Amino acid sequence: MIQDILKKSVLEKEDIVHLLATQGEEMKMLLKKALETKLSRLDNRIHLRGLIEMSNICRKSCLYCGVRSDNRKVERYTLSEDEVVECAKLAHKLGYGSVAIQSGERNDAAFVESITRILHRIKEIDNGALGVTLSLGEQSEDVYRQWFEAGAHRYLLRIESSNEELYYKIHPHDERHDFHKRLACIDSLLRIGYQTGTGVMVGLPFQTSEILADDLLFFKEKDVAMVGMGPFIPHPDTPLYQYSDQIPTIEERMNLTLKMIAILRLMMPEINMVAATANQTIDPMGREKAIMAGANVIMPNLTPNEYREDYLIYPDKACVSDKPEECFSCLDIRMKAIGHEILYNAWGDSVAFTKKKAATT
Ligand code: 5AD
Ligand code: FES
Repeated sequence: MIQDILKKSVLEKEDIVHLLATQGEEMKMLLKKALETKLSRLDNRIHLRGLIEMSNICRKSCLYCGVRSDNRKVERYTLSEDEVVECAKLAHKLGYGSVAIQSGERNDAAFVESITRILHRIKEIDNGALGVTLSLGEQSEDVYRQWFEAGAHRYLLRIESSNEELYYKIHPHDERHDFHKRLACIDSLLRIGYQTGTGVMVGLPFQTSEILADDLLFFKEKDVAMVGMGPFIPHPDTPLYQYSDQIPTIEERMNLTLKMIAILRLMMPEINMVAATANQTIDPMGREKAIMAGANVIMPNLTPNEYREDYLIYPDKACVSDKPEECFSCLDIRMKAIGHEILYNAWGDSVAFTKKKAATT
């Protein structure tokens, strides 16, 4: 019985698989419980991370990703350091307490140093007012530490799938796409003391509910501070596109994502969970639905509009033509409409992380 599962304090794998299969009224009960859990353990406030897509140059060639290095159709760009800092200043002006710098993966010294300089400059804005999240792929522990010391305090590195076999179905099997290396990177980030975020895509070809249940148990085992999960959206210029007819429908992927978010909110009530842009891409109300299923973070895009068409990880990405100022007022209205409130001018740290840190220091 779903009611019995929802009363449990610890969810086992079979419970999770059961919850992932819920439909209709049962699914509604799950989402309702997740929303109640979020509102009682956290609150109705939404944290913003202004997203800066700094570069689409990438050494990797993930089989799902539109900006993979083997996609020759993409025009490659890198924002100048000044442009990144300008985006951060705009974030501060709009009252977004935090920025997230995302880029294709590069490991060369010039890139590493450039990020360090940018971090120092962002930290100078209004005496370190802005929180900084990085999402720059796999790096050595030394590089992660260098950036941490330069002022980054959160890092996102999705595991994409915690199942090794599936991992190699959605990535080339070579030394650039090494499952164990990725796991080791997540461990490095946790060790250094980053608020570490990870996540998976939902609705991938060959993905089963058992695998999805294991993904959620993996987040819990790693005790991460943040999770991002969004539906897989096939990109026509990528190898995985050929399986488009073997994945769940758009509606099913949306519902499966919402159930993943809701179940994880029950399992990890105080983490930060993002309502990924991919949700809004497949459903105009997708972001709101993710918030109502337990998510509490939104990442509005601050990338200068002229570059956005070149950062299409998946097709038809939402908000690509919206100016940052437009997203700003749009979001405020949309969140109020569903009984939520945006928390401006705050870092919006993960409560789970803050409590854990207090307990260990
Ligand atoms: N559909 C949905 N999400 C995708 N990502 C990459 N490609 C796709 C896609 N086709 C996600 C990955 C990556 C994040 C930046 O975007 O999970 O970590
Ligand atoms: Fe790996 Fe883009 S090529 S996420």
